[in-house]
This record gives sequence, C-alpha cells and structure tokens, in this order.
Amino acid sequence: MTIELAPSILSANFARLAEDAKAALEGGGSVLHLDVMDGHFVPNITIGPPVVASLRKALPDTVFDCHLMIENPDSYIPAFADAGANWISVHQEACVHLHRTLQLIESLGCEPAVVINPATPVHTLDEVLDTVHHVLVMSVNPGFGAQTFIHGSLNKIKTLAEVRESLGLSFRIEVDGGVALDTVSDVVHAGAELLVAGNAVFGHGNIRENAKKLLGAARAAMLTRA
Ligand code: DX5
Ligand code: ZN
Repeated sequence: MTIELAPSILSANFARLAEDAKAALEGGGSVLHLDVMDGHFVPNITIGPPVVASLRKALPDTVFDCHLMIENPDSYIPAFADAGANWISVHQEACVHLHRTLQLIESLGCEPAVVINPATPVHTLDEVLDTVHHVLVMSVNPGFGAQTFIHGSLNKIKTLAEVRESLGLSFRIEVDGGVALDTVSDVVHAGAELLVAGNAVFGHGNIRENAKKLLGAARAAMLTRA
C-alpha cells in the first residue's frame, strides 16, 4: 500500500483556497480532502457543492476526497458528484441504509467510502467492507480542525488492517484528525495509508514545506512498519 497525504482545506485560508491547495499539492499532497459540514450532524458549517465545483475548475486533475459530515447524505450526494468529487465518504452514524447510500455513490461514478466516529466500533462496518474504496477512521470527534489526536483510534486502525488481511480485502485505511509530525508514525505503524492533515499543513508557516515534511515522516515510518 502506498502512503498518500490528503491535505484538508478546513485549515486553509478560505479567501485563497485554490492557491493554498496548490501549495499543499506541490509539497506532496496527492488527494485533496474536502470537509463538508451541515451544522446538524456536526456543530459547524463549511462548504457545499459550489465550492467543490470552483475548486474543480482550478484543479482539474486532482483527486477530490469529499468527507460528508451531514445528515441525509443521499439528498446531497448527486450534487457533490456533479461538482467534481472523486471519492465520497459518509458517516456510518448518519446513514440508516448505509449499503444503499454506498451504492448510490458508486452509481454516480465515484468511489464510495465510510467513516466512523471515535465512539463507533469497527465491527459496525463488517457487512460493507467488501464494497468500499476506503474506510476513514476519525481520530478526533468531527467538526473542527486542530483538535487533539485520540490515541484509542490506533487500535481501531490496527483492527481494520487485521480484518482486511484476514478477509483478503483491498479497501484502503484513512485517518483524519490530529495527524501531525508527532502522531504520524503511530498512525502509519497502526496500518493507515491515507493521511488527512489540516492544521499540520495549513495552520502555520510554509504550506508546501509542511506537507513535504509530513509526507517525508510518513514515508520514513512506512519503512519500519511491521
Ligand atoms: C474534522 C475534519 C478534518 C480536519 C482535520 O472534522 O474531518 O478533516 O480538517 O483537521 P486536523 O488535521 O487539523 O486535525
Ligand atoms: Zn475530514
């Protein structure tokens, strides 16, 4: 599995989103993580389809990873697909008919993925692991950037990696929240390959250099992964 950095624009300057995103991609980010919040499923509001569509015009070839932290995702998934999303992830906790929602995403030509909050056990995903492109393990409670990494999420990443191995499946494992220079080797050693990072990339200093350093640390950790 290849390690990839997915810069999260949540911590970027929203008045210059495309420029900040480009800097993070130049630093080695290969997937752009777009956090969609509705003020209901999580206590914050961020972006909707028009912003995704504008970014798509500015970045025609970048993989867009749309993380939907919203209620009733089925009502909005087609608009995000139209806007240019490549991967669309929905929260297990927000989907009554999770399998149907994942099928909807796939039917629109996007890669379907599922997310679990820190309090949600991995086994709640048992019946969909063979249909998802990736599983996103939240390592903070969703809603805000720059929160403290929750260490209990490492065991969930390990469990997922073990289940994937034992079942011979190929979904990828993504982690989101508090990923920074001091936590990145732990998440890589636990088994994550898609690393979302907001504050560590956009929060301070030089965006390009921050991305480069974080990806470098992740790759170094990969060399010592069991
Ligand atoms: C939080 C979002 C994250 C957020 C992570 O609800 O899903 O993608 O940007 O931010 P950091 O990396 O700052 O913890
Ligand atoms: Zn996210």
